[in-house]
Amino acid sequence: MKTVLNITNNFKNKDSYVLGIITDIHGNDKALDEALKYLKDCDYIISLGDLIGIGPNSNEVLNRVRTLDNFYTVLGNHERYLLFGFNNPLSCLTLDQQKFTEDSISEENKEYVKNIPLEIHFEWNNKTICILHYARRKYKEMRFKLIDHNPSYERLVELFEFHDQDYIIYGHEHVGSFFDNENDLNNKHRYFINPGSTGCPCPVKDELRFGKLYLDESIRFEFINKQYDSSDVVKAMIDKNMPNKEKIIKDFYKYSL
Ligand SMILES: [Fe+2]
Repeated sequence: MKTVLNITNNFKNKDSYVLGIITDIHGNDKALDEALKYLKDCDYIISLGDLIGIGPNSNEVLNRVRTLDNFYTVLGNHERYLLFGFNNPLSCLTLDQQKFTEDSISEENKEYVKNIPLEIHFEWNNKTICILHYARRKYKEMRFKLIDHNPSYERLVELFEFHDQDYIIYGHEHVGSFFDNENDLNNKHRYFINPGSTGCPCPVKDELRFGKLYLDESIRFEFINKQYDSSDVVKAMIDKNMPNKEKIIKDFYKYSL
């Protein structure tokens, strides 16, 4: 596994680029397809991790992203569970639910996951950009820190203590957020950007969250929220008899059973 993939050379031929940013697809192939419709003119699609787990169609999601020739992703905790095992049940993930996900994923797709880097770095106009799933416990370790659900800019600097890039773009916390230190003239201007989960609608039923990163004379992030019909995904959980489906349908998709 590669720790850091540097893609700066991808941005040498034009004066401007647009990157589609998706994250936490979590086995929701419908959300992935819907987001890609809005991002079809982007130069690259970048996922911030957790393509798999929680939802019913992890293998379908991996099949789909592997057909995209301008796609990059980083390793999320659910990819780490697939590669290195999962022993401590979470509210969103029971042991039998994890086994359901593991059993659904083809050997070819497991090989693909093995080659996902922990971080993607690039530079644009002398600004450094780091893409990763979340703050890690130790720099060389794959485990992530506990999510801070209500952070401040200062807290994010503390959490991402191993990273000093100008732009930190991350996911894992499914509600999006944006923090910068615009008013602090003593420090360099830094940004922490989380588009919010594309594939887990909670807290808003049928909501799709993603974004676009514009690279031109400046760097700008556009948050995008769209409504879609996630009932097919809920139906797939029932049809596949996915373990823990009642909790996922109710808490993560906001459907009443
Ligand atoms: Fe995550």
